[in-house]
Amino acid sequence: MASDITTKRLTLRGFTLDDADDVTRLVSDYEVAKTTLAVPHPYPADGAAGWIAGHPAEEERNHTTFAITLTATGELIGAITLIEKRIHLRAEIGYWIGYQHWGNGYATEATKAIIDWGFSERGLNRIFAHHFAENPASGRVMQKSGMQYEGTIRDCVQKDGRFIDTPMYSILRREWKTFQ
Ligand SMILES: CC(C)(COP(=O)(O)OP(=O)(O)OC[C@H]1O[C@@H](n2cnc3c(N)ncnc32)[C@H](O)[C@@H]1OP(=O)(O)O)[C@@H](O)C(=O)NCCC(=O)NCCS
Repeated sequence: MASDITTKRLTLRGFTLDDADDVTRLVSDYEVAKTTLAVPHPYPADGAAGWIAGHPAEEERNHTTFAITLTATGELIGAITLIEKRIHLRAEIGYWIGYQHWGNGYATEATKAIIDWGFSERGLNRIFAHHFAENPASGRVMQKSGMQYEGTIRDCVQKDGRFIDTPMYSILRREWKTFQ
């Protein structure tokens, strides 16, 4: 697993199976599931353990997932993933934060940190993310993290039998140096 990343308030670290109950509690909330592709609802009882157990194999494919924790208390509040396509030195970010922790700037703080990590430690050239059009809060996170709007992919994903448009944002290495 990658080394921990620390920010002003957060520690990003690898998940362990001890986190499974907390993950289940946080992602079982429909507020978290409804705007994510990877989180089924209702969330299966063994879903979190299986998800965490799969992380080492995912990491071999350059998909790195960090637990977002509050440094002051150690509390797990969310997750952030960087999915790399090494041949193009590009990667996609995905994240969720537990509902009771929304609005504190935590997603932005974690996203900025993983962008820094992606460029400085992973040598990436392009980092992008997209979000459901009906989830403007996630778009704000991308904007506040220094990413630029590139356009909206029409009917990009399907969830619960419905096609959803996804605005896309990115930051390039040369812009990151300016943004810092
Ligand atoms: C999207 C999500 C990660 C944001 O986490 P967060 O920690 O609350 O994010 P931050 O506090 O860093 O920033 C949220 C921003 O969105 C803004 N916002 C919140 N609701 C909004 C809305 N309905 N419309 C526009 N902006 C909104 C906030 O005001 C804040 O911006 P500001 O600092 O300019 O005021 C969180 O809501 C979440 O986990 N949602 C469910 C999972 C998900 O959608 N993941 C993203 C998949 S792409």
